Amino acid sequence: MPQQPREQWATRAGFLMAAIGSAIGLGNIWRFPYIAYDNGGGAFLLPYLIALLTAGIPLLILEYTIGHRFRGSPPRAFRRMSGPTEAIGWWQVAICFVIATYYAVIIAWAVRFVGFSIGRQWGDDPEAFLNEEFLQVAEGPGMVSSYVAGVAWPLVGVWACTLLVLAFGVQRGIERANKVFIPLLAALFVLLVVRALFLPGAAAGLDAFFTPDWSAVLDGSVWVAAYGQIFFSLSIGFGIMITYASYLRRRADLTGSALVAGFANSSFELLAGIGVFAALGFMAASSGIALDEVVESGIGLAFVAFPQIISAIPAGAALFGVLFFGSLVVAGFSSLVSIVQVIVAAVQDRTGLRRVPAVLTVGGATALVSVALFPTREGLYLLDVADHFINQYGVALAGLVAVVVVAWVLRRLPALQAHADATSAVVLGRWWRIALGLITPVVLGWMMWDSLATELGENYGDYPTRFLVIAGWGLALGAIVISALISLIPWKRGMDTGTDAAAGSEPGVPGKGGR
Ligand code: ALA
Repeated sequence: MPQQPREQWATRAGFLMAAIGSAIGLGNIWRFPYIAYDNGGGAFLLPYLIALLTAGIPLLILEYTIGHRFRGSPPRAFRRMSGPTEAIGWWQVAICFVIATYYAVIIAWAVRFVGFSIGRQWGDDPEAFLNEEFLQVAEGPGMVSSYVAGVAWPLVGVWACTLLVLAFGVQRGIERANKVFIPLLAALFVLLVVRALFLPGAAAGLDAFFTPDWSAVLDGSVWVAAYGQIFFSLSIGFGIMITYASYLRRRADLTGSALVAGFANSSFELLAGIGVFAALGFMAASSGIALDEVVESGIGLAFVAFPQIISAIPAGAALFGVLFFGSLVVAGFSSLVSIVQVIVAAVQDRTGLRRVPAVLTVGGATALVSVALFPTREGLYLLDVADHFINQYGVALAGLVAVVVVAWVLRRLPALQAHADATSAVVLGRWWRIALGLITPVVLGWMMWDSLATELGENYGDYPTRFLVIAGWGLALGAIVISALISLIPWKRGMDTGTDAAAGSEPGVPGKGGR
């Protein structure tokens, strides 16, 4: 099958919107506020900022440069850099496959909660409503026993919309959708934060959020949490930024774009922290419970604490609920589109399939797995374990391996720096190579060691070992084994070294890689 000409973003602004849309996701709205609070409040902002500058932005620049220089989804880009590293690219594709299957489910819940907000359908006990009435969670993890229709149908809808956007392609689908999503998200969220700031008790919430516990800065686990948050939140290690940058035109300001995307994402994250804590301050004041007892993590924060807050709001409660859950839907949806795009692009690059058949087959297969496993009574357990293991031993581990291979095995940082500099207004200094060659591997290695030690000491979430071996370790290891096997299948001539390796002749960059 002849190679298709590579799609391109229509404008740099379009690319930036899509990159920001991918970064801003569920992680910004529910993950950042409680991670910051648990790790020293205001004092967390220091490790967070250092993590952004020493790892987040340098890695974003690296991923943009690899995608732009080698013009491909992760498998093709890595293969063009050096044949055997193709497996790292497939590993990132496998990670995206797993994440997409459960990420879509959380968006589907948020879709339902937009509706539930209008009549405050969760009643007096949002926790019981979430677990018993809505998700109908089984007693414990196990084989899929029965489906929950109230989750299944919105999930099918989320997938239909995702595949539709992807079927329209990079310019007419992803770029156009993000041009609507980002302003919409900004408007929804600013309204939400302003409303939250005017709630009684908001000041106490902000006080708790920003009051620094300086002893936290001396605690290693706080630094691990800061780097972890930056990775998740900027979508680093997923291969998304490699894929999106592969659609950039030859003239593109890679470093400038990474700076804009990185700071936009963190600004949104801070805004989310302010909004969420203002609302939690209100909840503490209206219920008389201490603030540290009302802060819940993850799913509990969005789907239990927020419904309680919404119910307690004296005026405009339904609107507040629609704004909050609507923001979750929009932020999550633009991230989901980018995650699935990695899988579609990899299969297109590998097989030469056109976009629509690729979307229908691989996008459809991802959707099928998602719909088969997660809208079930056991789905919540599966989601929790899959999320934990694929983030720890997928995203972060793949990021560590990629950076060590590029910096130390292939020693490509100087050449990639030359490529980034040739395209960008801001010139990278030695700090970029130090951040990637030294700081990032050391911190990521430490993170990995730290979490492995915890993992081996106690079962994650107190789940039975058998369940963790299958749904956690099995999934994380399976992603590695499958990617290694796929990378062994020989490519048809021309598919890996096509004419669209556009930037091959740029200064300081060695010729095309590939076997
Ligand atoms: N970066 C995306 C998020 O924050 C994955 O949810």
